[in-house]
Amino acid sequence: MKLLLLCLGLTLICAHDEGSHEVVTSDFDMSKISGEWYTILLASNVKERIEENSAMRGFVESIQSLDNSSLTFKFHIKVNGECTEISLLGDPLGGNGVYNVIYAGFNILLISEAVYSDYLIFQVINFNPEKPFDMMGLYARKPDVSPKLKERFGELCQKYGIPEENILDLTDDDRCLQARGSHVAQDSRWVMCDGEGVPGITAFQHH
Ligand SMILES: *[C@@H]1O[C@H](CO)[C@@H](O)[C@H](O)[C@H]1NC(C)=O
Repeated sequence: MKLLLLCLGLTLICAHDEGSHEVVTSDFDMSKISGEWYTILLASNVKERIEENSAMRGFVESIQSLDNSSLTFKFHIKVNGECTEISLLGDPLGGNGVYNVIYAGFNILLISEAVYSDYLIFQVINFNPEKPFDMMGLYARKPDVSPKLKERFGELCQKYGIPEENILDLTDDDRCLQARGSHVAQDSRWVMCDGEGVPGITAFQHH
């Protein structure tokens, strides 16, 4: 009887484990994307957009899926060496992991692939009056991921036309980890149409 229970227990654990590691590429359950994340890799066809002091070089802290299907993102960017907290809202654009986000122009965010308990790969198409660009990102639940997953990201970037040399590994960067969880961060605010004070955002605001 004990052995039978042990077997049953192990089967349940294994079955559960398998389920949570499933790679999802469509029909995303956004509530499962909620929670803490870390920025691992960023890539862009216009590399300056993700280089130091750029508004798009964001170090994610968390994503929350709201009851009305919108998403909120909390992340930090470095402004003159200082971690600055940014909160953004993504409104759904037709469902299935597609959102619009107003930040440094107008963005369409598409979730490409996720293992909810492990990682998230997304694509951003940015429209701004100066130079539109594409971007891709790999977020993870932990501060780093396996080389195999980084390779997988490289393949997806290639598929979307972003060359290997335009992929940045940010795991050795100062990702503002010390600023995480500080709900009273000095610079917390919603950046909607107004990106005042954040370089690279104001530059794109043409009202
Ligand atoms: C969802 O709620 C948030 C917060 O109240 C709001 O800012 C956002 O515009 C709403 N989204 C939609 C699609 O109505």
